Amino acid sequence: MHAEDFKRRAAAHALELVTDGMRLGLGTGSTARHFVELLAEKVYGGLNIIGVPTSVQTLEQAVSLGVPIATLDEVPELDLCVDGADEVGPGLSLIKGGGGALLREKIVASAAREMVVIADSSKKVAMLGRFPLPIEVVDFGVVNIQRLLGEAVTAAGCSGTLTVRRDRDGHSFVTDHGHLIIDAHLGRIPDPVRLSQTLKEVPGVVEHGLFLGLAKKAVLAGADGITVFDPASF
Ligand code: A5P
Repeated sequence: MHAEDFKRRAAAHALELVTDGMRLGLGTGSTARHFVELLAEKVYGGLNIIGVPTSVQTLEQAVSLGVPIATLDEVPELDLCVDGADEVGPGLSLIKGGGGALLREKIVASAAREMVVIADSSKKVAMLGRFPLPIEVVDFGVVNIQRLLGEAVTAAGCSGTLTVRRDRDGHSFVTDHGHLIIDAHLGRIPDPVRLSQTLKEVPGVVEHGLFLGLAKKAVLAGADGITVFDPASF
């Protein structure tokens, strides 16, 4: 089986948590894409839900598949948010934002009573940091923001390089909200809480991809089958 099969299995498992009438946060990325596809089949079969997408990409997919959607202002409280992750670490701490949607993903996850992460089991790590941590920043004074972020990273006991994310054409990657992403290649994040705090103190930082205390469940699928974790069991 391939990673795509595992992602789809995790998505299918999470779909079992969805019940009629739910207000759902719809994540972004290749795993969340499977979830939205499977959800669309249920909707076609009569399931009544409303989805709040975490990106333009997911919005377009949901619309194309006939999944009813709303904005977060129209539906400000959600029952469940199902999203992927780039890394799942101790206590269900996460790195997200590989696809650049971390700002809306964090806002939508925070609006949900429960956030469930779906992923293939390769995303499970003993310590966060191997995946570059995305930091969303305003499009003003980026050189200085990058310098200050370097200091913030050091103050949190981390080290590594910070790079402005580029798209395939070499242009700066621009998020759905018109911001830039700086990826922090840290290797190891021994104290995610401390790093979260120091990053948020840098003027110009809009949000970062450390999701701490948000996920209440992780559904990980691999060659050994499906394992469901909660923060205490991870
Ligand atoms: C999108 O910005 C990200 O947070 C994704 O949720 C994350 O990158 C996981 O994506 P995949 O499911 O494609 O690995």
